[in-house]
Amino acid sequence: MHKVLLIGGAGYVGAVLAEELIERGYAVRILDRLYYGRDGLKNIADRVELVVGDMRTLTPEILKDVSSVVNLGGLSNDPTAEYNPEANYEMNTVATRTTAELCKAAGIKRYVFASSCSIYDRGVAEQARDVLLDETSEVSPKAAYSSSKYAAERFLLEMVDDNFCPVILRKGTVYGFSPRMRYDLVVNTFVKDALTKGFLTLHFGGEMWRPLVDVRDVARAYIASIEAPENKVRGEIFNITRNNFRISEVALRVREALRQVGVTVDIRPDYSYKGVRNYRVSGIKAEQVLGIRPEISIEESVVNIVENIQKYNYTDFENPKYYNIRWMRLLEEAHQVISVTGSVFYASGSKS
Ligand SMILES: NC(=O)c1ccc[n+]([C@@H]2O[C@H](COP(=O)([O-])OP(=O)(O)OC[C@H]3O[C@@H](n4cnc5c(N)ncnc54)[C@H](O)[C@@H]3O)[C@@H](O)[C@H]2O)c1
Repeated sequence: MHKVLLIGGAGYVGAVLAEELIERGYAVRILDRLYYGRDGLKNIADRVELVVGDMRTLTPEILKDVSSVVNLGGLSNDPTAEYNPEANYEMNTVATRTTAELCKAAGIKRYVFASSCSIYDRGVAEQARDVLLDETSEVSPKAAYSSSKYAAERFLLEMVDDNFCPVILRKGTVYGFSPRMRYDLVVNTFVKDALTKGFLTLHFGGEMWRPLVDVRDVARAYIASIEAPENKVRGEIFNITRNNFRISEVALRVREALRQVGVTVDIRPDYSYKGVRNYRVSGIKAEQVLGIRPEISIEESVVNIVENIQKYNYTDFENPKYYNIRWMRLLEEAHQVISVTGSVFYASGSKS
């Protein structure tokens, strides 16, 4: 049986991918430092091997019996990367390189890397770049998060040879339900805002473009990247997206989907906020080479999110765990406090 190592596999994408891999008959090992706990794996806890650890300090034992590796670990959005750019670089860039080198040394060829379409961002000011971009388009990412992903891509591409087959997936913004839920991704945020506030806020009027894709389609793209013949994918970059929409259209689609399940919602533009990302990309290469055509629409996904929120009772919408930056800040604060006394409730040296 093929065993896949998922680095960062207890996260939003990893939890869905792990379930999908198990369903397809793969054995799954997850290496994760569990920033967001292990709840995302509760449906499959007895069917995955979980190793708790940091991707920056891996040793070759983690690769025993593994035939391919998917790297989903590290900081996974702009605000967390800006919050600690040094840690972000260590995880997203350096650890990608070192884990890839470990794989190559161990004779594991297939290494799939979770990159991001935010690499294409140039902001709303640049009219000339407001066109459909593909994997050959010139990029010059500036933000900590996108630069760290791009630098990691460069390292991986330098390592390509007959014995190493890295595959890079630049994902658009992901939407949909995961057992490790994130409400800091635009479609999911809209659903949460609709259910809690009754209105959606369109920053910058929602004028910016975004490539978007459902998390289950993303899982299928990873599996296709593991299974594709080497000569088709070695050192290749693929954009993974279903559609490009302006955020204002995303809001309209979310509103319509919610109307069908009995939720009415208002849409309000807000032009005070200017720091928006803007890019649209082509997913044609993934379709042609990987045979991946993302199928799940925003509307279908929204209905599925609502159903799952009810099923899993994920109604504690303000729990900071669902928002990566809020959670990281809170963990840091808690760490400052606990590092003094060693415990929340007990005296140092007694029970913890
Ligand atoms: N979700 C999206 O919209 C999106 C879009 C494009 C790219 N990506 C990329 O896809 C990957 C997965 O994203 P996600 O939404 O599942 O993020 P997530 O934050 O939910 O999951 C990341 C997982 O990695 C783990 N992790 C973080 N640092 C680690 C470390 N140093 N050692 C071990 N484990 C560590 C976390 O505990 C978490 O379980 C990330 O690399 C992200 O940058 C995500």
